[in-house]
Amino acid sequence: MANDRRPDDMVRITTPELANAFIEEQVKALKEQVGDKKVLLALSGGVDSSVVAALLIKAVGDQLISVHVNHGLLRKGEPEQVIEVFRNQMKANLIYVDATDRFLDKLAGVADPETKRKIIGNEFIEVFADEARKLDGITFLAQGTIWPDILESENGIKAHHNAGGLPEDLEFELVEPVKILFKDEVRVVGEALGLPHSMVYRQPFPGPGLGVRCVGAITRDRLEAVRESDAILREEFEKNGLMCQVWQYFTIVPDFKTVGIKDEKRVDEWPCVIRAVNTRDAMSATVAEIPFEVMAHIVDRITHEVPGVNRVLYDFTPKPTGTIEWE
Ligand code: XMP
Repeated sequence: MANDRRPDDMVRITTPELANAFIEEQVKALKEQVGDKKVLLALSGGVDSSVVAALLIKAVGDQLISVHVNHGLLRKGEPEQVIEVFRNQMKANLIYVDATDRFLDKLAGVADPETKRKIIGNEFIEVFADEARKLDGITFLAQGTIWPDILESENGIKAHHNAGGLPEDLEFELVEPVKILFKDEVRVVGEALGLPHSMVYRQPFPGPGLGVRCVGAITRDRLEAVRESDAILREEFEKNGLMCQVWQYFTIVPDFKTVGIKDEKRVDEWPCVIRAVNTRDAMSATVAEIPFEVMAHIVDRITHEVPGVNRVLYDFTPKPTGTIEWE
């Protein structure tokens, strides 16, 4: 690729005009690099892979084959949004794999956070590799590597997985069209490419997804409680204008029950924890101040609309001592 490293004097992309100039340049470079060959991409629906997909669709159309793996740990509406935006609107060549059962079966009974993460990571690679092996004539693998990934790997902070840790029988050349960009620039480019604001400015979301918020061994019913309560929280934050004020917010459902009352009966059900934090770089974080009435309404909705939940708690712990995720 023409630009392998970020030039020292590169102007920060902050406007649609600068974004369009970058897009034009990259589309030209991608056309040259890819030619008439095929490119494969794991499209998570996150900012980086979505922008990479949109750039490649613009450059090489259906020579890009995107694979969206639903590991069953995505937020409510996410797989549907990926299908709507990429298959229906952008006419992408999109393979949708619902691997929910595969992941949840492997995770059944596993309570240790690190083991859960490993299972999810390894299974992801296997599902993606299975799909790659079904396809013929793929030359390139596209990745949403960004400039901080490169800097961190050079500084030994983070391993930058070339070819996404795929098995050796799958050898691809890499295409990394946003690798000289910072995250904020990727977002500006994404908007200029016509991606929805909600996709481009979505909050950070861990690779293992809701799996880190369904604490302990994941069960389908408790996972559903995490997903539904998260959807309510997001809806209410959006309605009350908190979306742009709070950096990250989500719910956690731990693996224990307490007594409560529903329909005048004693019920043993889970508590649901709300986490809402502000931070610059996620290294440390403060707890967001949420108006009491908004909280009371959210508690009312979660306890009445989410099966299996009879209490709602707010995590008042800054980082440190608490991490942002509960795991
Ligand atoms: P913690 O829990 O360490 O989280 O305070 C810091 C930030 O990182 C996010 N996070 C992840 N992001 N892959 C990601 O891309 C992951 O595996 C992962 N785990 C945590 C977390 O949501 C928070 O924003």
